Amino acid sequence: MRSISLFFISCFVALLALPSFGLELLNLDIEIDSSTNQSVSTVYQFPNVGSWIEGIAVRPNGNILVTRTDTPELWSIDPNSHTASLVYTFPNVTSTVGITAIGNDVYAVGTGIIDLSTTVATTGSFVIWKVDLTSDTPQVTTIKAIPEAGSLDGMAYLDRGLNTNLLIADTLEGVIWRLNPQSGNYSVALNDSSMLPAEGSAPIGVNGVRVVGNYVYYTSSTQQKFCRVAVADDGSAAGPFEVIATGFFQDGFAIAPDGTAYIATHPQNTVVKVTPQGEASVYAGNLNSTEVAGSTDVQFGNCGYQVIYVATNGAQDSPVNGTFTEPAKVVMIESS
Ligand SMILES: *[C@@H]1O[C@H](CO)[C@@H](O)[C@H](O)[C@H]1NC(C)=O
Ligand SMILES: *[C@@H]1O[C@H](CO)[C@@H](O)[C@H](O)[C@H]1NC(C)=O
Ligand SMILES: *[C@@H]1O[C@H](CO)[C@@H](O)[C@H](O)[C@H]1NC(C)=O
Ligand SMILES: *[C@@H]1O[C@H](CO)[C@@H](O)[C@H](O)[C@H]1NC(C)=O
Ligand SMILES: *[C@@H]1O[C@H](CO)[C@@H](O)[C@H](O)[C@H]1NC(C)=O
Ligand SMILES: *[C@@H]1O[C@H](CO)[C@@H](O)[C@H](O)[C@H]1NC(C)=O
Repeated sequence: MRSISLFFISCFVALLALPSFGLELLNLDIEIDSSTNQSVSTVYQFPNVGSWIEGIAVRPNGNILVTRTDTPELWSIDPNSHTASLVYTFPNVTSTVGITAIGNDVYAVGTGIIDLSTTVATTGSFVIWKVDLTSDTPQVTTIKAIPEAGSLDGMAYLDRGLNTNLLIADTLEGVIWRLNPQSGNYSVALNDSSMLPAEGSAPIGVNGVRVVGNYVYYTSSTQQKFCRVAVADDGSAAGPFEVIATGFFQDGFAIAPDGTAYIATHPQNTVVKVTPQGEASVYAGNLNSTEVAGSTDVQFGNCGYQVIYVATNGAQDSPVNGTFTEPAKVVMIESS
């Protein structure tokens, strides 16, 4: 049990030069969350440094699906036995990226070619797949290749009856695509300047995407923004693009129905909690900590919103203290 002091703790982080990101972090002056006590434990850690979990989804049976930037593989982690098994290896790509449920134990998975040493993606290499886990053998089929996509990442499912679309973040082009998983039709759904990579930084714009009610929420990594926009049934904007929280690097995230978000901050080695009112606090980790080093994505367990799973890349692209890296892992954080 990690108990957190009730004192106001301000963690003031100096400007850092980050090797692969090449970005200068804003001063991170976010207090530590003291509204709950959290217990933190590692669910599973891969054996090798260099492993990189990018996306996370939780199955109805409680097992955790993870995608990997370092291999074109989808893995399943059993949180009870703390073991992992390979679900599927995708052809002709280097990486699996976004993942989201599109049915009961049926998922969409994004794949593409990404050079891990530079994190530069190959435009034209991205394909979205359907992975059906309802029978003993995974049924894997292509939904659609999106050759115009720059670098696809986070995905969400906007299920509106006749209009069912995957919403897929394109971190390079700075847009969110819509892809109908039945017809394979696709087009740009959302295109706003808040989604573009920040000028002069690594080319990483809109990254995580989730749907809550009538809103699409998204993170924009190098602009360091957490945003939302009300959408129509087809995913197009039906209101203004709103900025909810700023001032920290933002990767994948989980968001509860009330709008409380848990955002992975990747090179900042934390999970930041953002309330529906936009108040940000450090929920887990810190810049010098290995607790959630290189956090890339967050998902809730399937028994309510007290448990989050945090995926990491082991800080391989931005070592803790400039030196420490470790294999990718999934960490469980339970609040009480
Ligand atoms: C957290 O734990 C500490 C020590 O056990 C306790 O004093 C405090 O009241 C707890 N805080 C919350 C919000 O439960
Ligand atoms: C993978 O590449 C091979 C050789 O170029 C090609 O025949 C095959 O259709 C490709 N498979 C997919 C799923 O793109
Ligand atoms: C897909 O696009 C084609 C060509 O634009 C169109 O005829 C068709 O109705 C679309 N299907 C759906 C389900 O939107
Ligand atoms: C997004 O909108 C901008 C401005 O209208 C446009 O220049 C750009 O081509 C659009 N991006 C995509 C991928 O459609
Ligand atoms: C992290 O380590 C640096 C260098 O030792 C130190 O200046 C800084 O205060 C530490 N930050 C946190 C949040 O612990
Ligand atoms: C660097 O990180 C390691 C591993 O977490 C930690 O033990 C050490 O205290 C850190 N050093 C500084 C100066 O923060």
